[in-house]
Amino acid sequence: MYGKRILLGITGGIAAYKIAYLIRILKKQEAEVKCIMTPASSDFISPLVVSTLSKNDVGIEFWNKDTGAWNNHVAYAEWAEVFVIAPATMNTIGKMANGLCDNLLLATYFSMKGKTVVVPAMDLDMYKHPAFERNIETLRNDGVLVIPAESGELASGLEGEGRMSEPEQIASYISSYLSRKPKYKEKRICITAGPTQEAIDPVRYISNHSSGKMGFALAKAALIAGFEVDLITGPSNESLTHPDLNRVDVLSADDMLNAVQKYWSNASIGIFSAAVADFKPEEASDVKLKKTNGQDPIVLKQNPDILKWASSNRVNNQKVIGFALETNNEEENALVKLRQKNLDLIVLNSTRDTGATFGGNQNKVTIFGKQGKIETLGLQDKFKIAEQLIEIIETLDA
Ligand code: PMT
Repeated sequence: MYGKRILLGITGGIAAYKIAYLIRILKKQEAEVKCIMTPASSDFISPLVVSTLSKNDVGIEFWNKDTGAWNNHVAYAEWAEVFVIAPATMNTIGKMANGLCDNLLLATYFSMKGKTVVVPAMDLDMYKHPAFERNIETLRNDGVLVIPAESGELASGLEGEGRMSEPEQIASYISSYLSRKPKYKEKRICITAGPTQEAIDPVRYISNHSSGKMGFALAKAALIAGFEVDLITGPSNESLTHPDLNRVDVLSADDMLNAVQKYWSNASIGIFSAAVADFKPEEASDVKLKKTNGQDPIVLKQNPDILKWASSNRVNNQKVIGFALETNNEEENALVKLRQKNLDLIVLNSTRDTGATFGGNQNKVTIFGKQGKIETLGLQDKFKIAEQLIEIIETLDA
């Protein structure tokens, strides 16, 4: 990060003490760091620590009370390649989302031409409050990048989501952002991941064992290869943050199809690794079904085939890659899917391979193209598989 100009905004939360470590990491990586603090944040970390570590004066008020000089928010905004607000409190996020400007940090945010990244930190009930969710959505729509909070022990003694991302992760996010490659339309990829859940009633659903690990590994490998990624995922415990990642969470196959329909035309490649439930109840009950005698069995109907929709609705020269999860007649079944869904590649994995497919960290796959088998990738980490698959796809695209 040699010579990169990073502006750090510190607001008044207990996680502010960790910013000393963040500044040290950034300075060790030879970045230029300037800091602006809200007045409240100096209760949590001393401006002297911040200015000593960053080797720059710290802006707190609109003017320096000792010298009478103006702390020019426009100059800060013009200087910064990226403005990282960490920790970002509920109060500051609310003001940013609603155009309120009562301190130097906010005035600088509203003057920024480069990107702003917020790193929220707060108690779990605040983090889940609809007002916070509304405000963070507004910021995302305004083009602000968000490093989501993590789960863990909170200053209140409670456990849950709201912990600020660790300084090492914030630093690596900033570094990925600042070293990102120029964006081209042909570098956008749409990936589906995880299972879908098909509601039976308000408490039950049909689903499968997919963890989302394969899809998230693909997203990570694609981001590292310089793609922008729309990751459309069913319920998953996996997490991934990156400036070029747009994560879209969905539940059912219908939701997943809607999301794919929204993003597909922006992509040049689609990788469909989700384990989409093929069937859903014909009608989801509004109330919990009772086990009364003589109750009709649940009537199922077919879900839309998302992969087939994408393949039949290509724009330009979009490449479509499907997965096939088989239990028997593996190769034969995979090749039928390749032909019937008109795919460029199909990635076969079999439940007969111990340690592969659902849930675990490893997979074993065979990749087929229109001309036949391309390669078998033996049992290995899903991320390694993903990296090799992205390489193969990139040669396809050439
Ligand atoms: O999530 P993990 O625990 O890491 O597990 C990874 C995985 C086993 C789920 C993954 O490697 C995998 O095989 N994904 C595809 C699973 C699957 O549903 O396969 P399928 O053979 O039923 O479907 C064929 C293809 O059509 C798949 O690309 C699937 O995403 C797609 N499909 C299927 C049905 C449907 N209604 N819409 C679809 O888009």
